[in-house]
Amino acid sequence: MGVNQRVQNVASLSKDDIPAEFVMSETEQPGITTVKGVNLEVPIIDFSNPYEEKLMQEIVAASCEWGMFQIVNHGIPSEVIARLQDVGTTFFELPQEEKELVAKIPGSIEGYGSIFEKEAKKGWVDHLFHKVWPTDVINYRFWPKNPPSYREANEEYVKYLHGVEEILFKSLSIGLGLEGDELRKGAGGEKLEYLLKINYYPPCPRPDLAVGVAPHTDMSTFTLLVPNEVQGLQAFRDGHWYDVKYIPNAIVVHIGDQLETLSNGKYKAIYHRTTGNIEKTRLSWPVFLEPPKDHVIGPHPNIINEENPPKYKTKAYGDYAYCKLNRIPQ
Ligand code: SIN
Ligand code: FE2
Repeated sequence: MGVNQRVQNVASLSKDDIPAEFVMSETEQPGITTVKGVNLEVPIIDFSNPYEEKLMQEIVAASCEWGMFQIVNHGIPSEVIARLQDVGTTFFELPQEEKELVAKIPGSIEGYGSIFEKEAKKGWVDHLFHKVWPTDVINYRFWPKNPPSYREANEEYVKYLHGVEEILFKSLSIGLGLEGDELRKGAGGEKLEYLLKINYYPPCPRPDLAVGVAPHTDMSTFTLLVPNEVQGLQAFRDGHWYDVKYIPNAIVVHIGDQLETLSNGKYKAIYHRTTGNIEKTRLSWPVFLEPPKDHVIGPHPNIINEENPPKYKTKAYGDYAYCKLNRIPQ
């Protein structure tokens, strides 16, 4: 893909207006469809006492009723998050040729790129994808070499994510009446993959007309995300779009499609999108916790019975992802 197709470059050439391919239809324009002046109060969950019953109940309730929550006091030092954000931001500020060194190659989801060519409308965002865990699936070819501390900062962050992951899987398993390790096993166990994405949203002259990332639910089991301080995440609730309040140092959790399936619909994948900011650059770092491609996912067998028949198909995660990305009905 040519340099001219990177949104960062389009943004640097756009003063008051944006190219037509970024203008959403009226039913999707943030200016028309956002409930203004309200921040959605998604649950804020305090992880200070990770083994309390109350914490488990809050995680389960938020996953059933919202599909989204924010974790505070999660134990990840703010310096570790700051370093992750610094090295990612530095990478996106490098000259274009440097970024193209880790560009996607055909057939790969990993690498630096912009929105799929298949999409009718473009999102005002560039991105970088690469796996960060487990070590045997990492392809360092897609990790920036510049800045030189990129790798260390990412590895340090990932080390801390495991603790958060463990509490979430355990609580959500128990919330279904399962043994604590059942959901993680159902999601791939030791082979569960962490896919990091960096979203880079340059300033957008018409954030009322364009979206960053178009409305979607994540395909993952769940997603752990840290944004920078610029507002931009929106969630769909009771038929409307709302801004989700930015909380410094919080980790945003999105319940994704695979947990909705594993729980047979008890936990709800959150429908969300992002918008641009007229003068500031927004970045976000979601980590998608995904089963390996050949791992088969369906409603967990131990919760299925006559009163709770399966509501979702059972299929390999790779097939699920293929259908979703190509808009083939599941
Ligand atoms: C996404 O859903 O991929 C992005 C969310 C965000 O940037 O906050
Ligand atoms: Fe998402």
